[in-house]
Amino acid sequence: MSASVTAVRGPMVWFRGDPFLIAREDAFVHESDGLLICTDGVVTAAGDYTALRDRLPDSLEPVHYPDHVITAGFIDTHIHYVQTGIIAAFGSQLIDWLNHYTFVEEQRFSDPAYARTVASSFCDELLRNGTTTALTFCAVYPESVDALFAEASRRNMRMAAGKVLMDRNAPDALLDTAQSGHDDSKALLERWHGKGRNLYAITPRFAPTSTPAQLEAAGALRREHPEALMHTHVSENTGEISWVRSLFPERAGYLDVYDHYGLLGRGTVLAHGVHLTGRERDRCSETGTAISHCPTSNLFLGSGLFHVHDAKDSKRPVHVGLGTDIGAGTSFSLLATMNEAYKVAELCNYPLDSVKAFYLATLGSAQAMGIEDRVGSLEPGHEADFVVLDPRATPLLAQRTSRVSDIEELLFVLAVMGDDRTVRATYVAGTLAHDRDVVTAD
Ligand code: GUN
Ligand code: ZN
Repeated sequence: MSASVTAVRGPMVWFRGDPFLIAREDAFVHESDGLLICTDGVVTAAGDYTALRDRLPDSLEPVHYPDHVITAGFIDTHIHYVQTGIIAAFGSQLIDWLNHYTFVEEQRFSDPAYARTVASSFCDELLRNGTTTALTFCAVYPESVDALFAEASRRNMRMAAGKVLMDRNAPDALLDTAQSGHDDSKALLERWHGKGRNLYAITPRFAPTSTPAQLEAAGALRREHPEALMHTHVSENTGEISWVRSLFPERAGYLDVYDHYGLLGRGTVLAHGVHLTGRERDRCSETGTAISHCPTSNLFLGSGLFHVHDAKDSKRPVHVGLGTDIGAGTSFSLLATMNEAYKVAELCNYPLDSVKAFYLATLGSAQAMGIEDRVGSLEPGHEADFVVLDPRATPLLAQRTSRVSDIEELLFVLAVMGDDRTVRATYVAGTLAHDRDVVTAD
């Protein structure tokens, strides 16, 4: 069978390394007239159009996006697909918000038909926002995981997900047990991990909703399956941290609970980490454990300000990606998330520039999940997931972007003013998966 080749042309940006740690010119690539060639879903050439056009197969005309910006697909390192229906729930901080809204909504996912409907619109919403990979919580019910992976598979997305583990401090209908949680997770992992582009993440909700026995079982599963990811929450809210101290008085702190049960390491993504201590950040750095920075959620729930420059301190850097944390987060858009990340950093006296912000949403997020060899960049060899951004998506954006003087300013304006309207097209494994300007029948 002959190879399937697709190509796009236009201004392009991507990353070869971490601009928090190495010189910008080594980390960041910008082609003002770029060509991207994809063969069987993988990038086989990326660079200057004039230099590469001879490599196009005869008769293949690249899809041309002049005056746009092509970037690697966005990667959301922390989202709950089962909370899509409760975005913008009024009036509470974390624990009350969980009890009043989240634990009510998640019970609806015992119905596989409801799970399928939400999973389908969730995947569409990711693609409309230029997000090609997400690390997502499902509900406690294994069927809620099957529903998501089935919909991601239909769209050929690289999706990471897992059944949430909870065996205490939640309504009975949402509880598993240490044994059933382990066994259900193992069965799901064996069913889905590596099937197509799917990845399984072992997913204890957070320390307060798992007994020591369940965390022990999660650690055992991780040792049996080191290829899987680990996904949980840490140090989001000060009340939550006190609660963890009272539940695990023998541990040195919140992070130490996860450390004790063998849950840290490369491929572990901890959401929030807003209140981690310097020593805890050191431990994340030592173990390769990543933090998902979720600024829209941290502001919405009044959780606090994540100090990105502390986490990315070059003396002991931590892997950091961006997360929307839907439904505590308020937008599926990683552009909107960059906007809030910028404002949070400003409140911490750190100007988060656009190159670093785009890095966090692409290669930084891939590194956080330990999948940077596969996604997050347009370097040849990566899977061809990419997004075409439109600097003239709205009249105001067109007015503002007409005045920018260089690519960094253009990216900054896109990050601060952009949203789903800015996403002109999303490609998954080299194939057009969302086109803003094509109206579908349904
Ligand atoms: N901590 C434990 N569960 C959750 C959740 O569903 N959302 C957020 N933001 N934090 C959590
Ligand atoms: Zn969350």
